[in-house]
Amino acid sequence: MTVRVCADYEALSRNAAELFAAGACHAVAERGRFCVALSGGSTPQRCYQLLAAPPLRDLVPWPQVEVFWGDERCVPENDPRSNLRLAREALLDRLPQPPGQIHPMSCAGDPAAAAGAYQALLQSAFDPGEPCFDLILLGLGTDGHTASLLPGTPAPLETNRLVVTVRAPGAEFSRLTLTVPVLNQARQIIVLVSGREKTTILHQILDGPPGRYPAQLLAPGDGQLLWLVDRAAAGDDLLR
Ligand code: 6PG
Repeated sequence: MTVRVCADYEALSRNAAELFAAGACHAVAERGRFCVALSGGSTPQRCYQLLAAPPLRDLVPWPQVEVFWGDERCVPENDPRSNLRLAREALLDRLPQPPGQIHPMSCAGDPAAAAGAYQALLQSAFDPGEPCFDLILLGLGTDGHTASLLPGTPAPLETNRLVVTVRAPGAEFSRLTLTVPVLNQARQIIVLVSGREKTTILHQILDGPPGRYPAQLLAPGDGQLLWLVDRAAAGDDLLR
């Protein structure tokens, strides 16, 4: 695991976008395609915008990029809370991406059926065994969740299925999420953490006792785990 502290949100976003582009070029050169799972939430928005503009837009071999999601809120695709909408507005609608290479988790209808369908999609998109994404982008919630592996739900402990539905107590909508085994099969995981409100949870995850938060379950076997954080989230301790 590596922790990299960036000066600010813009630097964090640029760093993430450059790593995305480099990973895409490497994966396509090595294996002919780049399979990435995008993160939801607000943190990755600037990273996506940087990828949708020169120079990075012209560096990424988009025709060989397959876009998936790490999780999705079960709301209509045009709902401002939709992770698909975030990625479309900031990135995908600005690219010549073949629609067949964009694989949303759309689950506004029947979440359980959508989870089964997405699992089947992953099983058809990857070789037998668990899918192996070249890159998974993730965020971090102040409660220690990542993707939609919400604390207090069964989702973080799921080890058989690749995709599960999640509904936090009292939540307005369900979610779909990749499960920990899928995340930990990735060649690279980058967790984007920005802002002072994440300082406490970030330190609890990185320095605190293990096994308390879903984000502490991130441990890609042969892959790389990079915590990309800005100074506001790092606080004073991480800067020493
Ligand atoms: C989601 C995200 C979630 C997000 C964190 C951080 O769908 O909610 O996937 O895991 O990454 O909650 O969200 P922010 O980036 O908005 O702080």
